[in-house]
Amino acid sequence: MKKHILLLLFTCFTMIAFGQTELRNLTVENLSNPIGIGVKTPRFSWKLVSSKRNVKQAAYEIQVKEGKNTVWASGKVASEASIFTKYAGSPLVSNAKYIWQVRVWDNQGKTSKWATASFGTALLHSNEWKATWIGSGLKSDTVNGVVPMFRKSFLANKKIASAKVYVTSRGLYEVQINGKRMGDSYLSPGWTSYDKHLQYQTYDVSNLLSEGKNAIGVLLGSGWYRSRLGWENKQNIYGKETGLLFQMVIKYADGTTETVVSDTSWKASNSHITYSEIYNGEVQDARLEQKNYSVASFDDSKWSTVVSKDFPTNYITAAINEPIRKHENLKPIAVLTSPKGETILDFGQNLAGWVKVSVQGKAGDIIKLSHVEMLDKKGTPYFENLRSAKAQAIYTLSGNGIETFEPHFTTFGFRYVKVEGITGKINPDDFTAIALYSDIKKTGAFETSNAYINKLQSNIRWSQRGNFLDVPTDCPQRDERLGWTGDAEVFSRTAAYNFNVDQFFAKWLIDVAADQKENGAVPFVIPNALKGSFFDMPVGAAGWSDASIIIPYNMYVSFGDKEVVERQYPSMKAYLNYVRGAAKNDLWNTGFQFADWLSYRVDDSKGMIGMKSAITDNYLVAQCFYAYNTEIMIKAATLLGKTDEVQEYQSLLERVKKAFQTEYMTASGKLISETQTAYILALQFDMLPENLRAQAVERLVKNIEGYEYHLTTGFLGTPFLNPVLTRFGRNDVAYKLLLQDTYPSWLYPIKAHGATTIWERWDSMKPDGTFQDPSMTSFNHYAYGAVGDWMYRTIAGIDTKEAEGAGYKSIIIKPEIGGNLTYAKGSLETNYGLVSSSWRIENNKFILDVEVPANTNATIEFPTNKIETIKENKAVLNAKTKTVGSGKYHFEMEL
Ligand code: BGC
Repeated sequence: MKKHILLLLFTCFTMIAFGQTELRNLTVENLSNPIGIGVKTPRFSWKLVSSKRNVKQAAYEIQVKEGKNTVWASGKVASEASIFTKYAGSPLVSNAKYIWQVRVWDNQGKTSKWATASFGTALLHSNEWKATWIGSGLKSDTVNGVVPMFRKSFLANKKIASAKVYVTSRGLYEVQINGKRMGDSYLSPGWTSYDKHLQYQTYDVSNLLSEGKNAIGVLLGSGWYRSRLGWENKQNIYGKETGLLFQMVIKYADGTTETVVSDTSWKASNSHITYSEIYNGEVQDARLEQKNYSVASFDDSKWSTVVSKDFPTNYITAAINEPIRKHENLKPIAVLTSPKGETILDFGQNLAGWVKVSVQGKAGDIIKLSHVEMLDKKGTPYFENLRSAKAQAIYTLSGNGIETFEPHFTTFGFRYVKVEGITGKINPDDFTAIALYSDIKKTGAFETSNAYINKLQSNIRWSQRGNFLDVPTDCPQRDERLGWTGDAEVFSRTAAYNFNVDQFFAKWLIDVAADQKENGAVPFVIPNALKGSFFDMPVGAAGWSDASIIIPYNMYVSFGDKEVVERQYPSMKAYLNYVRGAAKNDLWNTGFQFADWLSYRVDDSKGMIGMKSAITDNYLVAQCFYAYNTEIMIKAATLLGKTDEVQEYQSLLERVKKAFQTEYMTASGKLISETQTAYILALQFDMLPENLRAQAVERLVKNIEGYEYHLTTGFLGTPFLNPVLTRFGRNDVAYKLLLQDTYPSWLYPIKAHGATTIWERWDSMKPDGTFQDPSMTSFNHYAYGAVGDWMYRTIAGIDTKEAEGAGYKSIIIKPEIGGNLTYAKGSLETNYGLVSSSWRIENNKFILDVEVPANTNATIEFPTNKIETIKENKAVLNAKTKTVGSGKYHFEMEL
């Protein structure tokens, strides 16, 4: 085995070294070797690797086989397309395994070897579900009751070739087969708009089964399905009863198949999880545990028979996104004692997930873990910002030696854990905090010579991890944790620099469309768990509901994924129509708005000189977003070739801008709100006539100076603050804002309070160490982390050309120096391969190393005016920009 790997590595190495084009990272629907594809025409992607420069794909050929049958042979197709090529063979069949191969011809006359990968299909037609929905039928199986277990034993009496399970639930499932956990995903099937869209997952269980007797065991928690959601304490939102839908297809070596499905032959019992709820946590009693309940020999004669349920199956679709998995493991960095004598573990990092604990004690001993994000000034755990969420894990010991516990169907947002019930000295090694989040692949890396900026980047990334839990949530700790559209919208571009979030958002956007109101308005949270509450209005809010237009387009820009725009287009269009209907004379000035939510309030800090307010008129903000939405619709319609709509939206955009100028601007270009956000949005979306932009930039800079280089922006202004300054030549100011470390600023939470995630408010903890209003003070809210986009784009200087080369087919490398940084490095694993830009300053010399992946090109813009000093290796370039093909490049220049 080892020998083979070595040989393979050696062959790859020699081929790349000799300039051969190689293929790697073969994916189907963005996933590598997926086994449960549910779409009938999946999309294939691959990456080219070569040690040579200027390599492009000239042609490709794909072959797909099922067993010995070739189901698609594309033939040689002259095309540069190496991402998202659609399957065009004979109809795929369900529950099958396909091997696919691709080879390419490059522009230098070389042919790659065939590269091979596989994909498996799930159930492509809803009538292939043979399983029946089952419920436990137990009285105790209620929203706050005992978690039920299910089991079924069966005989597989022939040699097994392979076996797959298709499973979903109303509630959250965890499956065991023959005593072993099935798969490594958690909180499955995840969270969707359950009444309209439910995903099932596919598992390969070939290795879990054996010839002869087998057994299946399932735990079924309330999860998001019926736990209370939102601060109004509404529970059973999607229904009172949970249910399981399970279908296993076994393929025997002799070519026959057998199906084991959920039906009334299954049995049910109470489990040892006596309570499980999203916000409050979980309670387990190990004394009640029925060990080995999922092995065939277990005696279930005392178990009751399950009941069948007539829940629909026709709206169930194969999962398209990465499941939630366990990621980082953290050990406590300190065991602390609060002034009240409480024992507290400090994991050194605010995160979302849970703690795994190993303990030994007597039967009946109770261990209680309470999770908080912060300690107050005195070192006491701060519970208030959790609002009504208890966020506890409570375990009763069985007394049988060392016992290990972790929750199943809940998560917590925490850095600190208060431990109760352990007698004697605590051994920190017995506790591990585990970060749980969607298994989005890390794609970006960013680092500079400034440790605070690096910490900011780390905090942004951690807040993304903490809030990408199948749904993009606002926060992971209090009784909220909802898919707030505004938060996701402002953060989506940054998110796409740090991780590959294409599938993550594609799945969520299905719910955006599903929960959209009849009049086109998009709810403020998706899935719309606030249904029936004050916040469930048939209106759209600028920057929030606009996620329906902005995010699909951002996915196209970042990943070259045109299909997501195609799929969402009707929803995007319906939303814009809603806004048009809400607007009078092209002015969106009616209805509820969050506007520049959580902007800095000037009254909070009397000492600041200059400007009077940081609060921007709600409808001025809305009008800018009206223009932003319309502009994206022009681009989306252009992309999809909808020429009539392009024209319609173009003239709408002109009218929207005119209406803005008449309503919110004086003749000299002063805005009715003299705030940072007003000028930022007006400049970002070209709301002002060209001749009035320079003065607007001056007003903006003056305002910032008036606040002694502090930002005063809220959720909607913040993402564009630095981009606007950079675009209009005031990078110096942008860097000053980035490096500002007193309140309000990005670095204040880090410098003053050692923050490890992004906070909801600029002063979630105030300069004096007290907390902001506990009714809304989260320490893990990614919205203000939207500056991450600017950091990658401007400091490292990595961007994609939107029009000619979305998804980094055409790259821009344009680092902008400043802030006394002496180096910065950024890299991004794009759908074409690794783009990197790394620079350093040595003795007033600027040294830049760039990597451009095969099948792309990049335009590099150098940050010096001394163009005669710009050299590539030793050769003088004498130009401010250079467009290059793939390869590695080294430049030096004087500043
Ligand atoms: C959430 C947000 C959200 C806001 C809108 C808050 O409670 O945490 O981040 O966007 O409400 O009102």
